[in-house]
Amino acid sequence: MRVQADAPGRINLIGEHTDYNRGWVLPIGIAMGISLTAALRRDNLVKVYARDLKKEAVFSLSELSPGNGHNWWDYLAGVCWALLDEGFELSGADISFGGDIPIGAGLSSSAALEVAAAAALVRLNSLDIDKKKLALLCQKAENRYVGVQCGVMDQYASMLCKRNHALLIDCRSLDYEHVPLKLSQQALAIIDSRVNRSLAGSDYNRRREECREALALINEHSGVKRQSLREVTLQDVEQARFFLPEELYLRSLFVVEENQRVPAMVRALRAGDLAGAGRLMNESHTGLRDLYKVSCRELDLLAELSRGTPGVWGARLTGAGFGGCIIALVQKENLPDLQRRIMEETSGLLEKEPCFYTTSAAGGCVVKIIT
Ligand code: GLA
Repeated sequence: MRVQADAPGRINLIGEHTDYNRGWVLPIGIAMGISLTAALRRDNLVKVYARDLKKEAVFSLSELSPGNGHNWWDYLAGVCWALLDEGFELSGADISFGGDIPIGAGLSSSAALEVAAAAALVRLNSLDIDKKKLALLCQKAENRYVGVQCGVMDQYASMLCKRNHALLIDCRSLDYEHVPLKLSQQALAIIDSRVNRSLAGSDYNRRREECREALALINEHSGVKRQSLREVTLQDVEQARFFLPEELYLRSLFVVEENQRVPAMVRALRAGDLAGAGRLMNESHTGLRDLYKVSCRELDLLAELSRGTPGVWGARLTGAGFGGCIIALVQKENLPDLQRRIMEETSGLLEKEPCFYTTSAAGGCVVKIIT
């Protein structure tokens, strides 16, 4: 039996850097994804072929050890390791994959690869495991095997998104809900700055560390033991201003405000309030730029140019930041104007010409038997 697993990349509408603070996030699946085919082998080897890189690799299921290298196949080896570590039995497999998600653009190509591989292996090995748990195992693969301390958003999104809906995830309870996206006259534009963010893993991990430090100090001074910044109020942050180092104050202020923006966004989307939704996106970008400090010149320029274009309701960086993409909520009829404006006005100002995509909300990973 051969199976094919197709898993989408994602953009996040709002709720950035809130997942690892046990807050809310609101991603959607996108039209770009990873397509992976796999068949079982009789031994315990996994042979992988990356169609786009035209590269092959082989690893043994009995020799997987986390955090050992920085290889392109680590995402796949990590998924195998996470399943085995959880006590599931796996046979070897022949895997081949490719896709159209630009790599290093912050659109979760790695999560899509993990999710597609996990879903294919589950089907081939007839494992009994639900999608939510599988998404968590993919996150574990990335945290422990690959060594990136990501939250749960990307793997959840790639696994659980629904067409024409956003995925509201409560990263404390790990429950989720599909929120209808009624955007018949609007589109989401994705504009890739092509500033590669692959070297930014350490900055990302540093932000996580800063949130931990801020929480520890807030708890220490108030004598209340909160589990995460999710439980911190704006009032707590204002009081903490007197004892937190300036940058930890800014980071926690952003997280608390951003977390409040997610339910506000859901309300705006449900009410069809595009102006409100756009305003929240703009505020989120400003916070990411000035408080959380994960934007960069290129993303700021793209967001600003987008906002100044007629028909654009709001624009913000999406994903971890430090490069990658912005998204803009725009009237469909104004998409050509937006693209023209971005191309014309960034010419000569950016190192690389930005790439422009549009997307609607795609469904999550699908597995089918192909032979
Ligand atoms: C990356 C991580 C996610 C999330 C975002 C920021 O995409 O993988 O878990 O933390 O950054 O919101």
